[in-house]
Amino acid sequence: MKIRKICCIGAGYVGGPTMSVIADKCSDLEVKVVDINKERIAAWNDSDLNNLPIFEPGLDQIISRTRGRNLFFSSEMEKSIANADMIFISVNTPTKTKGLGAGQASDLSWVEASARQVAKYAEGHTIVIEKSTLPVRTAQAIKEILEATKKENAKNKNPKTFSVLSNPEFLAEGTAISDLEEPDRVLIGGEDPEAIKALVNIYLNWVPIEKIICTNLWSSELSKLAANAFLAQRISSINSISAFCEATGADINEVAKAIGTDKRIGNQFLSAGPGFGGSCFKKDILNLVYLSGYFGLPEVANYWNQVVVLNTWQQDRIYKIVLEKLFGTVSGKNIAILGFSFKANTNDTRESPSIRISCDLLEEGALLSIYDPKVSFERIKEDFERFSFNNQGIWKMVNSIPDALKNADAVLILTAWDEFFGLDWKYLASLMRSPAWVFDTRSVVKRQEIKNTSLNLWKLGEGS
Ligand code: NAD
Ligand code: UGA
Repeated sequence: MKIRKICCIGAGYVGGPTMSVIADKCSDLEVKVVDINKERIAAWNDSDLNNLPIFEPGLDQIISRTRGRNLFFSSEMEKSIANADMIFISVNTPTKTKGLGAGQASDLSWVEASARQVAKYAEGHTIVIEKSTLPVRTAQAIKEILEATKKENAKNKNPKTFSVLSNPEFLAEGTAISDLEEPDRVLIGGEDPEAIKALVNIYLNWVPIEKIICTNLWSSELSKLAANAFLAQRISSINSISAFCEATGADINEVAKAIGTDKRIGNQFLSAGPGFGGSCFKKDILNLVYLSGYFGLPEVANYWNQVVVLNTWQQDRIYKIVLEKLFGTVSGKNIAILGFSFKANTNDTRESPSIRISCDLLEEGALLSIYDPKVSFERIKEDFERFSFNNQGIWKMVNSIPDALKNADAVLILTAWDEFFGLDWKYLASLMRSPAWVFDTRSVVKRQEIKNTSLNLWKLGEGS
């Protein structure tokens, strides 16, 4: 089966970068990315690459060589689906907010709507690929929606047929391009050997064959949830030990190094911090928790749920430490927040620890000056509006680190942006109001850097 035209439904953090890399690596393919969000499509088509809807290092260069050549962003759903030999579904799958399973199960409305659009507009044989992260056995639902076209097929000269594959995405934001260009593995789940071969052939343009793993559909769907659960669990594990370090005089970086040198444990993903953010870890674990309950495995559900409980606790305890060090009140005090994205090198703030911690401080009446090199004012405003809290404080966004620290009683570092390392703390201390505190949740500040200043330093995971 020769694939010539690809369509991707969903031009988000996954659809955009993934399709850009496919277009870049396979110049003989025509790749169309479609989205119901017209503003987002317009941003992807903006001639000024600084206005792309997402910030990812290296993405702008790929867009500049592929866009208009064999990569197209469009709102034209019908034609793009009809022309495609292969369709990726890469739409959002957030946690349900209402109804059965609310707060845990994934909301599949967008996936279902996409499957219905494919069923309606596709022509001839089409390979449909789940790129979104989905509950195990969702492929069955997609197949059933697509097969409902059989009735209308009876009258059709060119009947619609479909093969469904699962091809979950493992990229991390901030390193999406290198993750896509040099993936640890590509996972393909499916039953139709021809369809699997067609997708493998696309990846073979740049991924070595030994890195392409083929499994059955359900293993592929479950592996994605399991991978995110294991990664998030590691962060909760190291964060739990960070609190232990503070209580006992141990140092979390020393402990992480000591345990990470054991090959069986490994040294990656052992940085303690303000808890994991991002759109996926929490939602995917909660989905796993929901499915465990659904399949009659309450002990499994409780086990994974604890990873999320610990993550919220970590954010909560950071806010309480700030409060305690500032004599039990932050009302009317100036606090600088450095970093609002959920990690460095992305403008994404979904589930960012900065949201909860900032809202808790605002509820106590703090005056926040927020600085982040890539996050917009509108994004923060929306995040605060969505997070239900009783705001007693005031917040503003500033354009530089010194602006944030002017007259501040404390500075709270929540994202490890490169520019937060090696700051001139002597100068910054002179801008702050004494007694001033630095709260470092990302191991950004070295103790000797503040040695000859009047600053007090609290570092997450560093016991005294
Ligand atoms: P996103 O919200 O950034 O993008 C999804 C896009 O789909 C939106 O622009 C939305 O308008 C569009 N959309 C929704 N319904 C549509 C429809 N019927 N037709 C056309 N467009 C539609 O989401 P994302 O971060 O790209 O995540 C997408 C999926 O990939 C999720 O399942 C997520 O769990 C998974 N995933 C995300 C990441 C990540 O780093 N963000 C990594 C791996 C996997
Ligand atoms: C994560 C996974 O790493 C990807 O493999 C997966 O594809 C993706 O989720 C997804 O399914 O959405 P992402 O959330 O973009 O990627 O970024 P990570 O690097 O995993 O960081 C997640 C959170 O954990 C961030 O808030 C980060 O600061 C935090 N983290 C990460 C730590 O606190 N310590 C660490 O050692 C690593």
